Amino acid sequence: MASASFLKSSPILNKSEWLNGQSLRQPSATVVRCNPVAPSPLTIRAGAYADELVKTAKTIASPGRGILAMDESNATCGKRLASIGLENTEANRQAFRTLLVSVPGLGNYVSGAILFEETLYQSTVEGKKIVDVLVEQGIVPGIKTDKGLVPLAGSNDESWCQGLDGLASRSAAYYQQGARFCKWRTVVSIPNGPSALAVKEAAWGLARYAAISQDNGLVPIVEPEILLDGEHGIDETFEVAQKVWAEVFFYLAQNNVMFEGILLKPSMVTPGAECKERATPEKVAEYTLNLLHRRIPPAVPGIMFLSGGQSEVEATLNLNAMNQSPNPWHVSFSYARALQNTCLKTWGGRPENVSAAQEALLIRAKANSLAQLGKYTGEGESEESKKGMFVKGYTY
Ligand code: 13P
Repeated sequence: MASASFLKSSPILNKSEWLNGQSLRQPSATVVRCNPVAPSPLTIRAGAYADELVKTAKTIASPGRGILAMDESNATCGKRLASIGLENTEANRQAFRTLLVSVPGLGNYVSGAILFEETLYQSTVEGKKIVDVLVEQGIVPGIKTDKGLVPLAGSNDESWCQGLDGLASRSAAYYQQGARFCKWRTVVSIPNGPSALAVKEAAWGLARYAAISQDNGLVPIVEPEILLDGEHGIDETFEVAQKVWAEVFFYLAQNNVMFEGILLKPSMVTPGAECKERATPEKVAEYTLNLLHRRIPPAVPGIMFLSGGQSEVEATLNLNAMNQSPNPWHVSFSYARALQNTCLKTWGGRPENVSAAQEALLIRAKANSLAQLGKYTGEGESEESKKGMFVKGYTY
């Protein structure tokens, strides 16, 4: 536990706290002790933001809520817009993101939204700051801080994630702009190994990023995505995931990251996308929960899964299966494709479809909220929401 004071104060962040926190605080201490009366040998390097980080993480990991990932880079957003026949212009990206954040009632099901840098500094089509719209909805604004994947020299055609240079000052600026959490996505490929080098690089990069983010008041989402690509079965995914998470937590601890102030964004343990043998939601849940129990300390407040190319319904069914009995952590969603797909198709770039598209997003958000509570039935889902979205070699 990082600090006695956060135990006494309100466990979640209220709106005025994150609005008032717009100016940077002065660090008061760099070492937070477990018990200030009788110092214990357990010291955790948490910095000035320890209490706030814990509150932010708990706010995001609150019952029946999860994260809307809308942090596609401009290039990826362009691919989404092209799929409905729109050009990749700033105005079109703004129109789609305005539609997403202003869905009435979204905050009942969504606790955080991950933004791309352009959106963090952007206003809605009507001229209101997107960050303000989110805060009014009760949704914590987040920011993608990684700078994307590049080839990892000396590996088996694998990649590593850039972005550590200048991360501290960028994170401080994002905090001032209203962001309270962040995301760093790196990937591990099963068909390409994964090599020990690629796993170590992924884990070390995530740990450095997490420490720097916490130092600057942002709750880091730790996301080593184990790509769906490949013909491998579910057991192989499980073995690789065990190795990856062991290494990630080893380096998180070495970098003195405060586990109470992070969130995880794992891939679910599934067979490779090209594996003939498919797995039921119950099997995915069994394997995934087994992995989490073996590797993730209960101090971590929330596990927010990515959808990784699963269909909207598949991602919701799998999440629901994982919430059939109590877990030590909040087990929820941080989906991009599995929340946005039907919404995007319904919109099609036409102003007259905005309300219907917003309703489509709300349906998905509500379904995943029910799945977080283990109460989703899967009834009445559209055909569109059952279509898989896997893309070989997908980049984000
Ligand atoms: P998907 O849910 O589309 O896999 O997105 C993952 C992600 O990292 C978005 O932030």
